[in-house]
Amino acid sequence: MKMTFVNLSVLASVASCALASAADLEAAKRGETLYMQHQCYSCHGTQGQGGERNAGPKIFPNPTPFVAFELQMRTPRNVMPRYSVQNINAMQLKDLYAFMENMRTSPAVAQIPLLSNAMR
Ligand code: HEC
Repeated sequence: MKMTFVNLSVLASVASCALASAADLEAAKRGETLYMQHQCYSCHGTQGQGGERNAGPKIFPNPTPFVAFELQMRTPRNVMPRYSVQNINAMQLKDLYAFMENMRTSPAVAQIPLLSNAMR
């Protein structure tokens, strides 16, 4: 009997994790739209890999903690444009961050048919 209860509670927590990550993915999707709309990609690259000729630093993997991200957006420390609450509100900031956390690393050369064929 005890085992059944434990199993059930494990199941319940797994289910709630799945729900949370679905919500995270939704947020990340909205964040991706914002990332494109506000042209973050033009300096940081579409996958956060960093821009040409140091236009913007690499921001993925290991994005800076949220507080630092928020600070950078509201009061950029150097040449990055400032994004005020009127441009990007607090909710949208969270969505953007969710996207930054869920960006994908670029595939290896061997996984890109055009490039791997060129290497032969
Ligand atoms: C015109 C180019 C440009 C645009 C557009 C831009 N950034 Fe930046 N970003 C930079 C530069 C350059 C830095 C380095 C710090 C500075 O100059 O303020 C930076 C720093 C950052 C950092 C901190 C990186 C670190 O390691 O400390 C984050 C996070 C970031 N940008 C996210 C964004 C997001 C999200 C957007 C879109 C809403 C955006 N940036 C738009 C150029 C840009």
